[in-house]
Amino acid sequence: MSQRLKDKVALVFGAGSSGPGWGNGKAAAALYAREGAWVFAVDVRAEAAEETRRVITSEGGRCIALTADVTDSAQIQAAVAAVLSEAGRIDVLHNNVGITEMGDPIEASEESWHRVLDTNLTGVFLTCKHVLPAMLEQGAGSIVNISSLASIQVNTYPYTSYYAAKAGLNHLTRSLAVRYAPNNIRVNAVLPGVIDTPLIYTQIAGQFEDVEEMRRHRNAASPMGRMGDAWDVAHAALFLASDEAKYITGVCLPVDGGKACAGR
Ligand SMILES: NC(=O)c1ccc[n+]([C@@H]2O[C@H](COP(=O)([O-])OP(=O)(O)OC[C@H]3O[C@@H](n4cnc5c(N)ncnc54)[C@H](O)[C@@H]3O)[C@@H](O)[C@H]2O)c1
Repeated sequence: MSQRLKDKVALVFGAGSSGPGWGNGKAAAALYAREGAWVFAVDVRAEAAEETRRVITSEGGRCIALTADVTDSAQIQAAVAAVLSEAGRIDVLHNNVGITEMGDPIEASEESWHRVLDTNLTGVFLTCKHVLPAMLEQGAGSIVNISSLASIQVNTYPYTSYYAAKAGLNHLTRSLAVRYAPNNIRVNAVLPGVIDTPLIYTQIAGQFEDVEEMRRHRNAASPMGRMGDAWDVAHAALFLASDEAKYITGVCLPVDGGKACAGR
C-alpha cells in the first residue's frame, strides 16, 4: 500500500459486480480503499454494494455501502447527502455504471435506447449535478468516468445506443473538465477495451455460440492477444483520481492493450 488516496473520500457509483469475481467498479472501489480512501460503495442492488463493502472491510479498508439508481436524481441526491453527512466531503467521484443492449435502430425499442442513454450518460450528468456543489465548496475534486473504447471505435457488437452514450460521455467529460478547471476540479475518463469481467458473461456472451468462442474472439481483438482485467482499469482510474494526476484533466484514456491504435 502506498496510500495514494490517503484521507480522501471516494464515492463510487456502480461499485458492485454483476457476477462473482472482480468487475471494474468493484476493483476500483477496493483499490481506492487499499490506497487509503474512505470508500462509499453505491449500487442499485443492495447486495452487490454490500459484497464490495464486505471485501473492503475484510482487507482492513474503510467502506460504507449505499443503494441508489443512477437514473433516479432523488436517489443520487440522497446518497450524496448521506456521504456528506458522514464524511463531510467528496474528493473522488467515480462513475462506473454502464449497461449494453444490442440492436440497431430498427431492432431496438425506443425504451431500450432511452434506458441505455439514461444509465450510461444521463446518470453521470446527475451524479455530477449532485456532487459538484460539494467539490466547488471544497475547492478541489477529481471525477473519473468509466467510458469504453466503443466510444471512439465501432466494433463487431451491434449496440448502437451504447456507442452513442459512451461517445457522449467522453465529450461530457471534456466539457466538464474545461468548465471546472479553474475550480481545481479535474474530470477524466477511462476507456476500457476488451476486459474480462463478469459483465461480459451476462451482457455480451449472447452474441456468440458459446462462452469459449466469446473469449477467443475477445482475446484476438487485442494486439496483446488477451483481454485485460478489472485491475487494469482500476489502476488507470486510481492514477487519474489521485494527486499524481493533478495537472491532467479532460483526458479520455484507453486501457486496451493497443486496440485503438490497431484500429480493430
Ligand atoms: N468489461 C468490459 O469489457 C468493458 C469494456 C468497456 C467498458 N466497460 C465499462 O465498464 C463499466 C462496468 O464495468 P463492471 O465490470 O464494473 O460492470 P458490472 O456490471 O460488473 O458492475 C456494474 C455495477 O453497476 C450496477 N448498476 C447497474 N445499473 C445501475 C444503476 N442504474 N444504478 C446504480 N448501479 C447500477 C450493477 O448492479 C453492477 O453491480 C461500464 O461503464 C462499462 O460500460 C466494460
